[in-house]
Amino acid sequence: MARLQINEKKKLGRIEPEVYGHFSEHLGRCIYEGLYVGEDSDIENVNGMRTDVVEALRELQVPVLRWPGGCFADEYHWKDGIGDKKNRKKMINTHWGGVVEDNSFGTHEFMELCKQIGCKTYVNGNLGSGTVQEMSEWVEYMTFSGVSPMADLRRKNGHEEPWKVDYFGVGNENWGCGGNMTPEFYANEYRRYQTYVRNYDEAHPIKKIACGANIDEYYWTEGVMKTAFSHTPSRYHGFMDLISLHYYVHPEGWDIKGSATDFTEEGWYKTMVKALYMEELLNRHCAIIDQYDPEKKIGLSVDEWGTWFSVEPGTNPGFLYQQSTVRDALVAAVTLNIFNKHCDRVKLACIAQMVNVLQAVILTDGERMLKTPTYHVMHMYRHHQGAELCASDLTDVDTVGTDGWDVPQITESVSEKDGILTITLGNLSATEDKELTIGFSENEGKKVIEARIVTNSDYHAYNTFDEPSIVNEEEFTGFKWESGHLVVTLPKASVVKLRVR
Ligand code: AHR
Repeated sequence: MARLQINEKKKLGRIEPEVYGHFSEHLGRCIYEGLYVGEDSDIENVNGMRTDVVEALRELQVPVLRWPGGCFADEYHWKDGIGDKKNRKKMINTHWGGVVEDNSFGTHEFMELCKQIGCKTYVNGNLGSGTVQEMSEWVEYMTFSGVSPMADLRRKNGHEEPWKVDYFGVGNENWGCGGNMTPEFYANEYRRYQTYVRNYDEAHPIKKIACGANIDEYYWTEGVMKTAFSHTPSRYHGFMDLISLHYYVHPEGWDIKGSATDFTEEGWYKTMVKALYMEELLNRHCAIIDQYDPEKKIGLSVDEWGTWFSVEPGTNPGFLYQQSTVRDALVAAVTLNIFNKHCDRVKLACIAQMVNVLQAVILTDGERMLKTPTYHVMHMYRHHQGAELCASDLTDVDTVGTDGWDVPQITESVSEKDGILTITLGNLSATEDKELTIGFSENEGKKVIEARIVTNSDYHAYNTFDEPSIVNEEEFTGFKWESGHLVVTLPKASVVKLRVR
């Protein structure tokens, strides 16, 4: 029988809330329609932001939002997105569908959105096709409270007080869409650009994020750390606060990707294997970072993660719109448990993307919206935000899978906040339920105060606009206490949360 031994007295570090962050790009229907409909829309909105979506995001306790890209970030010129909307420049979104971008959602709108959601701000700058001056002026525009050309321009555009920029990305994927650079070239550029990302508000310094690697391109992490981190002069706090990593799960590989909803049992396990690969990626990238930064001064920001399938048939291939099934719920559970367990280094992560793109937590269709299975997992996991990771040891776990695509049947992580343990579990088997016995360092007097589950008897199940609650977060009753141990029966293809006091 599988066993999980929790040592709730042994704390391994704080799980930063930002690990549960999100990403929103000017891509397909993420920003336009998904988040922003404009003040004149028939869809209920506050200052242009969809009320239904904002409410759902508030329930999720979104800690941080990254914007404006993605590949879009290195083509974005922020001055096109300020001032009177009628006069804003129109451009072609060359990366994503070749559609016209009218810049009606810009800096002011992003800050308004974050205010409504109640989250921190992560702005991604343009290093690939922008200038040092442009980046520097954006930061001045957003964060300077005194008298200056950019602060005055912000005031002229109706915002007297500066905003708070919590995180600033100095370029995105500069090994690819952000300029096809070598790590050494990028790292030198990083050193130059970040110099002018000024901290005008010393009480709330901006955390600067260097562009990190794609998947397993360890040479990139090595090259950037060697050239940029080792030159961090100690007197300049915040030269580099985080370095990023991007990894997407494509069950059938980058070229084919595979359907989001129509997949075989083998497709299920391939996806699980590829989700679990995050563990190896973190171990290896972190080992490189450790060599330069053994004191763990900087964090790893996995600011793009999630499933990337073939687009929903009949939709614009450049819009990356896909459905989200129980399989996606398991990918989220696996990934978030891995992040929790790497909380010593992983300080931020953003699921890609927030609405209508890739592994979205929300899908919209005109005035209708639905919460995906991934939404429900992130909602269950929200209690890990800001909690202390507890030591936990899983033993006697079966291996499940098909045709060489084998995975351990159970994923788990445990944290504690305010005297309550949050235990998140996933059963990766597509076909078999599993009993798990949970022990604690102190077994006496414990009580389950909340138990929730996300599953469906059909692992292909997903929510539709006509039936938005096919896969929901529901009460879970499959547990009992036996001699101070918690015995849980995890249904096949399920994600379970138990809160224990
Ligand atoms: O999330 C979609 C795209 O994936 C982003 O624009 C880019 O950064 C990554 O390659």
